[in-house]
Amino acid sequence: MPNVTAVLLAAGQGTRMKSSHPKVLHEILGRPMIAYLVDALKSRGMADILAVVGYQAEKVQAALAPYGLRFVLQEPQQGTGHAVQVALPAAPPETETVMVLCGDVPLISGESIDNLYQLHQQSGAAVTVQTVELPDGAHYGRVVRDDTGQVRDVVQVKDAAHRPDILAIREINTGAYCFDAAFLRQALSELTVSPVTGEIYLTDMIALARRHGRGVEALLDPDWENLLGINSRRELAQATRVLRRRINEAHMAAGVTLMDPEATFIGPLVTIGRDTVIYPNVFLEGETSIGENCRLEPQVLIRDSHLADGVIVKMGSVIEGSRIGPGADVGPMARLRPGSELKSRVHIGNFVEVKKSVLHEGVKAGHLTYLGDAEVGAGVNVGAGTITCNYDGVQKHRTVIEDGAFIGSNTALVAPVTVGEGAYIGAGSTITEDVPSGKLAIARGRQVILTRKKQPGAPD
Ligand code: UD1
Ligand code: CA
Repeated sequence: MPNVTAVLLAAGQGTRMKSSHPKVLHEILGRPMIAYLVDALKSRGMADILAVVGYQAEKVQAALAPYGLRFVLQEPQQGTGHAVQVALPAAPPETETVMVLCGDVPLISGESIDNLYQLHQQSGAAVTVQTVELPDGAHYGRVVRDDTGQVRDVVQVKDAAHRPDILAIREINTGAYCFDAAFLRQALSELTVSPVTGEIYLTDMIALARRHGRGVEALLDPDWENLLGINSRRELAQATRVLRRRINEAHMAAGVTLMDPEATFIGPLVTIGRDTVIYPNVFLEGETSIGENCRLEPQVLIRDSHLADGVIVKMGSVIEGSRIGPGADVGPMARLRPGSELKSRVHIGNFVEVKKSVLHEGVKAGHLTYLGDAEVGAGVNVGAGTITCNYDGVQKHRTVIEDGAFIGSNTALVAPVTVGEGAYIGAGSTITEDVPSGKLAIARGRQVILTRKKQPGAPD
């Protein structure tokens, strides 16, 4: 899109969210809502993007820092028209079209952006406004057309309290527009303040264009679900539902089984291989990849992790910042904390916690174990109740268990400590010194059997 400047309106507080965070940073499936809008613009090759920030501007700017946008500060925030008045001087002189989008209408597709721009280019209108038809226009600005069907005005609900005819209109303004930049430069300062709300409305540019004898076009977009504004928690939940459905349908179309797509929460950056089966109440978040033929049972949360093919995660497990090799299985009720790496065919059973540890091929830790800051060699068997005592109250220390070692149940490995290749630890040991390869270590009190002395008068 050459000579186009996109202006994102993101300065408002979002009073109806009842929040101490700026509205555009509220998250949908783990990402700030405005990030989706920026992605859609970038997917269409939009190079010049200006974000208007105001309420908690530093926070919004920090969240958008990775995207390389330009920022304009609107202070105080006196309405959408005022926001564009503040932004326009920052558009380069060669800009011919200004596309305005609302930071709180974030799910607009690249295709809808294209369609709006195309119509605007073809018609040569001063303003092209995107509209949708709803069963009920709710709180949205109403699109008023004249007898010939031409758009005459967009009227805010608050300014139409005594106009049931206007409130009855079902075609509403989505808040996305293309403007002829020359017309904006000429006429934007003519906007006046609404006597009802004290705000300067961008929507008044439509009536203004008509008064200037300029053309106004409206593009009625059928994709209404993705073009609704988010002003309240209810609308945030609604948008989350819409996006979730969009994402889940794409995964199903690509060969993933979701047993109940309405109860499956998959973030926008997640990839999943075909023939993977996902049970209900699974959450996949952040930068996560799941291989082919995996099985994720109910109540599983996986964040920023990578699972190879054929991995099974059983019910109730939590996996964060970890890598799992092919054919491994985890859970039920297991926890992998950041920095865990499970190589192929590792088995992690119930109530096992792993942190910042590498478990080589075929390691088995079936029950009630904590492995932290450890390197566990191939084929090691970790008995029930084994604990790496990795923290001395000041520092963390490493435990190394070499290939093929056998760790008896209820062993405490007091780090730093190394158990050599093929060594064997007797159950119930507290291991404080290195165990050489191939040796047996037992470190526990010896069992004694005592006979109670007979008390006088006690039965035999
Ligand atoms: C706005 C439109 C309405 C439309 C609806 C679509 C106006 C007057 N009304 O209403 O016709 O149907 O969007 O969702 O334009 N903002 C600023 N600075 C300001 C005020 C707002 O940057 O001074 C930003 C907000 O952060 C938000 C966007 O503009 O992202 C829209 O503002 P909001 O107050 O939500 O407008 P609506 O009442 O939803
Ligand atoms: Ca809004």
